[in-house]
Amino acid sequence: MPSLTLALADRLPKAELHMHLEGSLEPELMFSLARRNNVSLPYENEDELRQAYQFNNLQEFLNLYYSGMSVLLTEQDFYDLTWAYLERSHQDNVIHTEVFFDPQAHLERGVAFETQIDGIFRALTDAQENLGMSFRLIMSFLRHLPEESAFETLELALPYLDRIDGIGLDSSEMGHPPEKFERVFKQCRDLGLRITAHAGEEGPPDYVWQAINQLEIQRIDHGNRALEDAKLTALIADKELTLTVCPLSNKRLRVVDDMKQHPFPEMMAKGLKVTINSDDPAYFGGYVNDNFHALINNLDVSPEQVLMLVKNSITGSWLSDVEKGHALARIESVWEQERHAFS
Ligand code: HPA
Ligand code: ZN
Repeated sequence: MPSLTLALADRLPKAELHMHLEGSLEPELMFSLARRNNVSLPYENEDELRQAYQFNNLQEFLNLYYSGMSVLLTEQDFYDLTWAYLERSHQDNVIHTEVFFDPQAHLERGVAFETQIDGIFRALTDAQENLGMSFRLIMSFLRHLPEESAFETLELALPYLDRIDGIGLDSSEMGHPPEKFERVFKQCRDLGLRITAHAGEEGPPDYVWQAINQLEIQRIDHGNRALEDAKLTALIADKELTLTVCPLSNKRLRVVDDMKQHPFPEMMAKGLKVTINSDDPAYFGGYVNDNFHALINNLDVSPEQVLMLVKNSITGSWLSDVEKGHALARIESVWEQERHAFS
Protein backbone atom coordinates (compact mmCIF):
# COMPACT_ATOMS: atom_id res chain seq x y z
CA MET A 1 0.00 0.00 0.00
CA PRO A 2 2.71 2.59 0.70
CA SER A 3 3.72 2.42 -2.96
CA LEU A 4 0.17 3.37 -3.99
CA THR A 5 0.13 6.19 -1.45
CA LEU A 6 3.51 7.39 -2.73
CA ALA A 7 2.16 7.44 -6.28
CA LEU A 8 -0.92 9.32 -5.12
CA ALA A 9 1.21 11.95 -3.39
CA ASP A 10 3.28 12.35 -6.55
CA ARG A 11 0.30 12.75 -8.83
CA LEU A 12 -1.91 15.08 -6.80
CA PRO A 13 -1.75 18.77 -7.71
CA LYS A 14 -0.40 20.76 -4.77
CA ALA A 15 0.88 24.11 -3.56
CA GLU A 16 4.20 24.70 -1.87
CA LEU A 17 4.07 27.37 0.84
CA HIS A 18 7.52 27.22 2.46
CA MET A 19 10.52 27.30 0.16
CA HIS A 20 13.52 29.64 0.29
CA LEU A 21 14.73 30.38 -3.23
CA GLU A 22 18.33 30.64 -2.02
CA GLY A 23 17.89 27.20 -0.48
CA SER A 24 17.10 25.74 -3.90
CA LEU A 25 20.59 26.55 -5.19
CA GLU A 26 21.83 23.12 -6.26
CA PRO A 27 25.61 22.50 -6.18
CA GLU A 28 25.74 22.22 -10.00
CA LEU A 29 24.18 25.65 -10.46
CA MET A 30 26.31 27.08 -7.65
CA PHE A 31 29.51 25.98 -9.41
CA SER A 32 28.29 27.14 -12.79
CA LEU A 33 27.42 30.62 -11.43
CA ALA A 34 30.75 30.73 -9.58
CA ARG A 35 32.55 30.16 -12.90
CA ARG A 36 30.36 32.69 -14.72
CA ASN A 37 30.97 35.37 -12.06
CA ASN A 38 34.56 34.55 -11.16
CA VAL A 39 33.65 33.80 -7.57
CA SER A 40 35.82 31.26 -5.79
CA LEU A 41 34.19 28.60 -3.64
CA PRO A 42 35.96 26.84 -0.76
CA TYR A 43 35.20 23.41 -2.32
CA GLU A 44 36.87 21.56 -5.20
CA ASN A 45 33.67 20.32 -6.79
CA GLU A 46 29.98 19.52 -6.35
CA ASP A 47 30.61 16.22 -4.56
CA GLU A 48 32.90 17.81 -2.01
CA LEU A 49 30.29 20.50 -1.39
CA ARG A 50 27.55 17.90 -0.91
CA GLN A 51 29.74 16.12 1.63
CA ALA A 52 29.69 19.30 3.71
CA TYR A 53 25.89 19.20 3.99
CA GLN A 54 25.84 17.63 7.43
CA PHE A 55 24.30 19.83 10.05
CA ASN A 56 23.84 19.54 13.80
CA ASN A 57 21.49 22.50 14.06
CA LEU A 58 19.95 25.43 12.19
CA GLN A 59 23.01 27.69 12.57
CA GLU A 60 25.40 25.19 10.99
CA PHE A 61 23.11 25.05 7.97
CA LEU A 62 22.71 28.83 7.80
CA ASN A 63 26.50 29.29 7.67
CA LEU A 64 26.63 27.25 4.44
CA TYR A 65 23.42 28.76 3.11
CA TYR A 66 24.81 32.32 3.36
CA SER A 67 28.20 31.40 1.94
CA GLY A 68 26.60 29.44 -0.93
CA MET A 69 24.56 32.41 -2.10
CA SER A 70 27.74 34.47 -2.66
CA VAL A 71 27.58 33.33 -6.32
CA LEU A 72 24.29 35.20 -6.89
CA LEU A 73 25.25 38.58 -8.34
CA THR A 74 23.31 39.48 -11.49
CA GLU A 75 19.65 39.65 -12.48
CA GLN A 76 20.24 36.58 -14.67
CA ASP A 77 21.62 34.66 -11.66
CA PHE A 78 18.41 35.28 -9.71
CA TYR A 79 16.43 34.31 -12.80
CA ASP A 80 18.35 31.05 -13.27
CA LEU A 81 18.01 30.16 -9.59
CA THR A 82 14.26 30.76 -9.56
CA TRP A 83 13.62 29.11 -12.91
CA ALA A 84 15.47 25.94 -11.92
CA TYR A 85 13.28 25.59 -8.82
CA LEU A 86 10.08 26.24 -10.78
CA GLU A 87 10.89 23.68 -13.47
CA ARG A 88 11.81 21.11 -10.83
CA SER A 89 8.75 21.64 -8.67
CA HIS A 90 6.52 21.56 -11.75
CA GLN A 91 7.63 17.92 -12.12
CA ASP A 92 6.23 17.32 -8.61
CA ASN A 93 2.83 18.63 -9.75
CA VAL A 94 3.23 21.87 -7.84
CA ILE A 95 0.62 24.12 -9.44
CA HIS A 96 1.09 27.08 -7.08
CA THR A 97 4.09 28.19 -5.07
CA GLU A 98 4.72 30.88 -2.46
CA VAL A 99 8.46 31.46 -2.32
CA PHE A 100 10.67 33.33 0.14
CA PHE A 101 13.67 35.44 -0.69
CA ASP A 102 16.15 37.03 1.72
CA PRO A 103 16.95 40.51 0.34
CA GLN A 104 19.17 41.54 3.26
CA ALA A 105 21.55 38.65 2.60
CA HIS A 106 22.17 40.05 -0.90
CA LEU A 107 22.10 43.76 -0.02
CA GLU A 108 24.90 43.07 2.48
CA ARG A 109 26.97 41.77 -0.44
CA GLY A 110 26.23 44.85 -2.56
CA VAL A 111 23.51 43.32 -4.77
CA ALA A 112 20.75 45.88 -5.37
CA PHE A 113 17.16 45.11 -4.39
CA GLU A 114 16.10 45.74 -7.98
CA THR A 115 18.58 43.17 -9.36
CA GLN A 116 17.20 40.50 -7.03
CA ILE A 117 13.52 41.11 -7.54
CA ASP A 118 13.72 41.66 -11.29
CA GLY A 119 15.36 38.27 -11.85
CA ILE A 120 13.08 36.44 -9.45
CA PHE A 121 9.93 38.03 -10.81
CA ARG A 122 10.83 37.43 -14.45
CA ALA A 123 11.21 33.71 -13.74
CA LEU A 124 7.94 33.60 -11.78
CA THR A 125 5.99 35.24 -14.61
CA ASP A 126 7.68 32.96 -17.18
CA ALA A 127 6.55 29.95 -15.14
CA GLN A 128 3.03 31.33 -15.05
CA GLU A 129 3.02 31.69 -18.85
CA ASN A 130 4.94 28.58 -19.83
CA LEU A 131 4.25 26.07 -17.04
CA GLY A 132 0.81 27.27 -15.92
CA MET A 133 2.03 27.75 -12.35
CA SER A 134 0.73 30.55 -10.14
CA PHE A 135 2.82 32.16 -7.44
CA ARG A 136 3.15 34.59 -4.56
CA LEU A 137 6.41 36.23 -3.48
CA ILE A 138 7.34 36.57 0.20
CA MET A 139 10.07 38.95 1.33
CA SER A 140 11.68 37.59 4.45
CA PHE A 141 13.45 39.58 7.14
CA LEU A 142 16.59 38.12 8.72
CA ARG A 143 15.93 37.91 12.44
CA HIS A 144 19.62 37.90 13.44
CA LEU A 145 19.84 41.49 12.13
CA PRO A 146 18.41 44.49 14.02
CA GLU A 147 14.85 45.66 13.41
CA GLU A 148 16.36 48.83 11.94
CA SER A 149 17.74 46.80 9.04
CA ALA A 150 14.28 45.32 8.39
CA PHE A 151 12.82 48.86 8.30
CA GLU A 152 15.51 49.91 5.79
CA THR A 153 14.76 46.88 3.63
CA LEU A 154 11.03 47.62 3.70
CA GLU A 155 11.85 51.15 2.51
CA LEU A 156 13.79 49.72 -0.46
CA ALA A 157 10.88 47.38 -1.23
CA LEU A 158 8.25 50.14 -1.37
CA PRO A 159 8.53 50.70 -5.16
CA TYR A 160 8.03 46.95 -5.70
CA LEU A 161 5.08 46.25 -3.45
CA ASP A 162 2.96 45.30 -6.46
CA ARG A 163 5.21 42.22 -6.77
CA ILE A 164 5.43 41.33 -3.08
CA ASP A 165 2.50 39.59 -1.42
CA GLY A 166 3.74 38.88 2.04
CA ILE A 167 6.45 39.21 4.63
CA GLY A 168 8.27 36.42 6.44
CA LEU A 169 10.80 36.10 9.25
CA ASP A 170 13.68 33.63 9.05
CA SER A 171 17.31 32.88 9.97
CA SER A 172 18.69 32.14 13.47
CA GLU A 173 15.70 31.70 15.75
CA MET A 174 17.15 31.32 19.25
CA GLY A 175 17.72 34.68 20.91
CA HIS A 176 15.75 36.52 18.22
CA PRO A 177 12.10 36.34 19.29
CA PRO A 178 9.29 37.65 17.09
CA GLU A 179 8.64 40.57 19.48
CA LYS A 180 11.94 42.09 18.31
CA PHE A 181 10.13 42.85 15.03
CA GLU A 182 6.72 43.92 16.31
CA ARG A 183 6.91 47.49 14.96
CA VAL A 184 8.16 46.65 11.48
CA PHE A 185 5.53 43.93 11.06
CA LYS A 186 2.83 46.40 12.12
CA GLN A 187 4.01 48.70 9.32
CA CYS A 188 3.93 45.78 6.86
CA ARG A 189 0.35 44.90 7.87
CA ASP A 190 -0.65 48.55 7.48
CA LEU A 191 0.72 48.38 3.93
CA GLY A 192 -1.66 45.49 3.23
CA LEU A 193 1.00 42.79 3.20
CA ARG A 194 0.30 39.26 4.43
CA ILE A 195 2.36 37.97 7.33
CA THR A 196 4.02 34.68 8.12
CA ALA A 197 6.97 33.82 10.39
CA HIS A 198 9.27 30.93 11.20
CA ALA A 199 8.44 30.02 14.79
CA GLY A 200 8.88 26.95 16.94
CA GLU A 201 11.49 25.34 14.68
CA GLU A 202 14.19 25.58 17.38
CA GLY A 203 12.56 28.31 19.44
CA PRO A 204 10.19 27.67 22.37
CA PRO A 205 6.36 27.79 22.29
CA ASP A 206 6.54 31.36 23.61
CA TYR A 207 7.97 32.45 20.24
CA VAL A 208 4.91 30.97 18.53
CA TRP A 209 2.62 32.86 20.95
CA GLN A 210 4.50 36.06 20.10
CA ALA A 211 4.23 35.42 16.36
CA ILE A 212 0.46 35.02 16.74
CA ASN A 213 -0.22 37.84 19.20
CA GLN A 214 2.43 40.42 18.33
CA LEU A 215 3.12 39.86 14.62
CA GLU A 216 -0.47 38.76 13.84
CA ILE A 217 0.74 36.08 11.46
CA GLN A 218 -1.59 34.34 9.02
CA ARG A 219 0.57 31.18 8.84
CA ILE A 220 3.23 29.54 10.98
CA ASP A 221 6.40 28.28 9.32
CA HIS A 222 7.44 25.01 11.00
CA GLY A 223 5.66 25.36 14.37
CA ASN A 224 6.90 21.98 15.65
CA ARG A 225 7.52 23.14 19.21
CA ALA A 226 3.99 24.54 19.55
CA LEU A 227 3.03 20.97 20.44
CA GLU A 228 4.77 21.38 23.81
CA ASP A 229 2.01 23.78 24.87
CA ALA A 230 -1.49 22.27 24.89
CA LYS A 231 -3.25 25.64 25.08
CA LEU A 232 -1.25 26.95 22.14
CA THR A 233 -1.89 23.81 20.12
CA ALA A 234 -5.63 24.12 20.75
CA LEU A 235 -5.57 27.79 19.72
CA ILE A 236 -3.75 27.01 16.45
CA ALA A 237 -6.32 24.31 15.71
CA ASP A 238 -9.26 26.60 16.62
CA LYS A 239 -7.99 29.45 14.48
CA GLU A 240 -7.22 26.99 11.66
CA LEU A 241 -3.78 28.53 11.31
CA THR A 242 -1.83 26.75 8.59
CA LEU A 243 1.45 25.10 9.63
CA THR A 244 4.08 24.82 6.89
CA VAL A 245 5.83 21.64 7.98
CA CYS A 246 9.15 20.57 6.40
CA PRO A 247 10.00 16.94 7.27
CA LEU A 248 13.38 16.57 5.52
CA SER A 249 14.51 19.91 6.92
CA ASN A 250 13.50 18.79 10.41
CA LYS A 251 15.56 15.64 10.02
CA ARG A 252 18.63 17.37 8.53
CA LEU A 253 18.63 20.14 11.15
CA ARG A 254 18.01 17.65 13.95
CA VAL A 255 14.71 19.16 14.98
CA VAL A 256 13.77 15.47 14.96
CA ASP A 257 16.26 12.62 15.47
CA ASP A 258 14.50 10.16 13.25
CA MET A 259 11.73 10.50 10.66
CA LYS A 260 9.86 7.80 12.55
CA GLN A 261 9.67 10.24 15.47
CA HIS A 262 8.40 13.16 13.40
CA PRO A 263 5.46 14.86 15.17
CA PHE A 264 3.34 14.69 11.99
CA PRO A 265 0.91 12.09 13.44
CA GLU A 266 0.44 14.17 16.59
CA MET A 267 -0.13 17.32 14.54
CA MET A 268 -2.83 15.55 12.55
CA ALA A 269 -4.39 13.98 15.65
CA LYS A 270 -4.62 17.41 17.28
CA GLY A 271 -6.50 18.75 14.25
CA LEU A 272 -3.78 21.11 13.02
CA LYS A 273 -3.89 22.35 9.47
CA VAL A 274 -0.65 20.82 8.21
CA THR A 275 1.00 21.34 4.83
CA ILE A 276 4.15 19.62 3.52
CA ASN A 277 7.02 21.66 2.11
CA SER A 278 10.68 21.43 1.13
CA ASP A 279 12.19 24.50 2.92
CA ASP A 280 15.69 24.40 1.33
CA PRO A 281 15.51 21.50 -1.13
CA ALA A 282 19.09 21.72 -2.41
CA TYR A 283 20.46 21.39 1.12
CA PHE A 284 18.01 18.98 2.75
CA GLY A 285 17.82 16.19 0.20
CA GLY A 286 14.66 16.75 -1.74
CA TYR A 287 11.77 18.66 -3.24
CA VAL A 288 8.18 18.59 -2.08
CA ASN A 289 7.30 15.07 -3.24
CA ASP A 290 10.44 13.74 -1.53
CA ASN A 291 9.06 15.24 1.68
CA PHE A 292 5.76 13.40 1.21
CA HIS A 293 7.76 10.22 0.58
CA ALA A 294 9.78 10.70 3.77
CA LEU A 295 6.56 10.74 5.81
CA ILE A 296 4.80 7.94 3.93
CA ASN A 297 7.85 5.66 4.11
CA ASN A 298 8.36 6.15 7.83
CA LEU A 299 4.94 6.76 9.35
CA ASP A 300 1.43 5.53 8.98
CA VAL A 301 0.03 7.99 6.43
CA SER A 302 -3.33 7.23 4.81
CA PRO A 303 -4.34 8.22 1.28
CA GLU A 304 -7.08 10.39 2.82
CA GLN A 305 -4.44 12.22 4.83
CA VAL A 306 -2.39 12.85 1.69
CA LEU A 307 -5.51 14.27 0.08
CA MET A 308 -6.09 16.48 3.12
CA LEU A 309 -2.49 17.74 3.04
CA VAL A 310 -2.66 18.89 -0.56
CA LYS A 311 -6.07 20.48 0.02
CA ASN A 312 -4.60 22.30 3.03
CA SER A 313 -1.81 23.62 0.81
CA ILE A 314 -4.42 25.30 -1.38
CA THR A 315 -6.76 26.58 1.33
CA GLY A 316 -3.77 27.78 3.38
CA SER A 317 -2.31 29.66 0.39
CA TRP A 318 -2.80 33.30 -0.45
CA LEU A 319 -4.69 32.55 -3.66
CA SER A 320 -8.10 34.22 -4.09
CA ASP A 321 -11.21 32.22 -3.26
CA VAL A 322 -11.95 31.72 -6.96
CA GLU A 323 -8.42 30.48 -7.62
CA LYS A 324 -8.64 28.18 -4.61
CA GLY A 325 -11.87 26.74 -6.01
CA HIS A 326 -10.21 25.94 -9.33
CA ALA A 327 -7.20 24.35 -7.66
CA LEU A 328 -9.37 22.23 -5.34
CA ALA A 329 -11.37 21.02 -8.33
CA ARG A 330 -8.14 19.89 -10.00
CA ILE A 331 -7.23 17.96 -6.86
CA GLU A 332 -10.68 16.33 -6.69
CA SER A 333 -10.45 15.30 -10.31
CA VAL A 334 -7.14 13.45 -9.79
CA TRP A 335 -8.45 11.94 -6.54
CA GLU A 336 -11.52 10.60 -8.39
CA GLN A 337 -9.20 8.85 -10.87
CA GLU A 338 -6.94 7.42 -8.16
CA ARG A 339 -9.19 6.55 -5.25
CA HIS A 340 -10.45 3.22 -6.67
CA ALA A 341 -6.88 1.90 -6.27
CA PHE A 342 -7.37 2.00 -2.49
CA SER A 343 -10.76 0.30 -2.21
N1 HPA B 1 14.93 28.23 9.22
C1 HPA B 1 15.26 29.50 9.42
N2 HPA B 1 15.78 30.26 8.48
C2 HPA B 1 15.96 29.75 7.27
C3 HPA B 1 15.64 28.44 7.00
C4 HPA B 1 15.10 27.64 8.03
O1 HPA B 1 14.79 26.43 7.88
N3 HPA B 1 15.96 28.24 5.69
C5 HPA B 1 16.44 29.39 5.20
N4 HPA B 1 16.46 30.32 6.16
ZN1 ZN C 1 12.26 27.92 6.20
